[in-house]
Parts: sequence; C-alpha cells; structure tokens
Amino acid sequence: MFLRKVVNNAKRLAPNIRTMASQGPLVDLTVDNDGVSIMTMQRPPVNSLNLDLLRELSKSLDEVAKNKSRGLILTSSSPTVFSAGLDIMEMYKPDFKRAEEFWTTLQDVWFKLFGSNFVTAAAINGHAPAGGCLLAMSCEYRVMVQGKFTIGLNETALGIVAPTWFMDTMCHTIPMREAEYALTTARMFTVDEALKIRLIDESAADKADAITKCKSFIKKFERIPPLARSITKQKIRQAPIKNLQDNRKADSEEFLAYVKNPKVQQSLDMYIQSLKKKA
Ligand SMILES: CC(C)(COP(=O)(O)OP(=O)(O)OC[C@H]1O[C@@H](n2cnc3c(N)ncnc32)[C@H](O)[C@@H]1OP(=O)(O)O)[C@@H](O)C(=O)NCCC(=O)NCCS
Repeated sequence: MFLRKVVNNAKRLAPNIRTMASQGPLVDLTVDNDGVSIMTMQRPPVNSLNLDLLRELSKSLDEVAKNKSRGLILTSSSPTVFSAGLDIMEMYKPDFKRAEEFWTTLQDVWFKLFGSNFVTAAAINGHAPAGGCLLAMSCEYRVMVQGKFTIGLNETALGIVAPTWFMDTMCHTIPMREAEYALTTARMFTVDEALKIRLIDESAADKADAITKCKSFIKKFERIPPLARSITKQKIRQAPIKNLQDNRKADSEEFLAYVKNPKVQQSLDMYIQSLKKKA
C-alpha cells in the first residue's frame, strides 16, 4: 500500500517513471514523496559487496538512469554498517571465472555511479571501509551519521593494492597529499576526521537527518540547468573514467593476478581469521 503510494506519487512527479519495485532482495530501490530515488543496500550482516549485490546495484543504477527522479541517495538498511567493502570471500581461493565477473561488475557499478548523469549523494549510516568508502566517494555528496563509525580505503593493510581508479576516486574527493597518506597508511577516519578533510561533506544525527541533508544537496540543482550540470560533472570526472575505460582489461588481469598470488591469499586468510576472532 505504502509502496503503491510512493510509486504513484513518483509518477506524478516524473510522468515517465517505471515501477520502482526493487530488482531483488539485496537492493531496495524506491522513489520517495520528494521524487528522489533511495537505493538501500540490504545484504546482512555488513553489506559486503559480493557478485550478487554488485549485480543488483548495477541493475538498480540502470533503473535510476531511466526513472527521471530528481537524484539518487545511496544508503544501507543496517544501523551500523554502510558497506564493509568487497566481500573477501569473493577473493579468497576463488573460482577464477567468477572472480573475473565479480571484478568487471564492480567496474560497471563504478562507471554507472561515478559517471552518472543524475545527481548522487550518500547517506553513510555506519562503517564504510574500502569498497564502502569507494561507493560513497563515487557520489557527489556525502553525509555520515555521527557515531563510532569509520570510513577510508584500508586495502594496503590487507596486503592489497587499491586499484588506480579507487585512488583516482579518492584524489577526486580529498587533496592528493591527504589521499597518498591515507592510502599508504590504510587510514580509517572517524566521522569528525573525515569531516575535517572533506572526505565527507556533513555529519548527521541519524539516518533520517542524513537523508534530509542529502536531499537539501539534491534540491540545490533545481535552480541549475540540468544539461549544463551533467556535462560539467562528466567533464570534471572524465580523466579517471577514460583511464579505466582504456585499461579495463589490464585492470581485471591485475586483479586476477593478485588473487592468484599465494602471498595475497595468505594475507586474506589471516585477515579472515582476525575478523572471525573478533566475534
Ligand atoms: C565493517 C565492520 C567494521 C563491521 O564490524 P561489525 O559490525 O563488528 O561486524 P563483524 O566484523 O563482526 O562482521 C560480521 C560478519 O561479517 C563478516 N565480514 C565483515 N566484513 C566482511 C567482508 N568485507 N567480506 C566478507 N565478510 C565480511 C565477518 O567475518 C563476520 O562474519 P561472521 O559473522 O561469520 O563472523 C567490520 O566487519 C570490518 O572491518 N570488516 C572488514 C572491512 C574490510 O576490511 N573490507 C575490505 C575488503 S577488501
């Protein structure tokens, strides 16, 4: 009933809108009363990005590209985790064919999010390490809920080198000097630290407040001609996008070489054990 009301309202706001039922259970996509697409990752316990979740994110991003909503807010259904980043089990002793598809789907999600024409914001309602931070940084605006949460690219701590496009996305968000220091030291930022270096744009009291603040950002574009806005965004983001487009295959091969490396597998093994010991 509620969903029907939301869809009807969205249709009123955007006549060409298609039904906004989610593509599957791992991502919920709705257009709310303000005509904003809310994309919620819901893969318990920590929204780790496995192939299935990435496929659904990719499809949902296609939906948003078509639905003519005012913008996208990416968030999570978990009260403490935005996304734990790449699902380590996709990299640990993987089936290489699946690993390749996993990586190309991750690339697709990044192209569609970082390179989107529509306005994007992340309501980061919990921890956002690694790929979680990448998704947030791929948006144009970030609001993070206050709490003992952290955000950052921690790949080097796992013995993994973050791909160039992860680095590019960070350099697009914070100054290069800060990015180099954060990447090499696998630095995870508290909410206040992230705010200080503008890794996030605002903090929020809770998820509802984060969504409201993301909407205020999206609302700013009511006064800006949309074509000028989207072309400007495309141009300013062009270099990292072109770089991955030109090197997509090599990037996948590099990932596969990493996961085939026994030393990387050893680091992942230790990391998985350390995560389990925590419990
Ligand atoms: C996100 C995080 C802060 C959440 O902490 P938390 O709420 O205390 O949750 P837990 O650490 O207990 O994790 C819950 C479960 O998810 C698993 N998990 C966490 N992150 C995961 C990941 N990235 N991939 C796969 N499984 C993961 C844990 O092993 C644990 O599994 P278990 O229930 O079988 O023991 C923490 O899980 C974390 O730091 N994860 C690793 C993030 C990371 O380094 N990602 C980089 C991947 S390249």
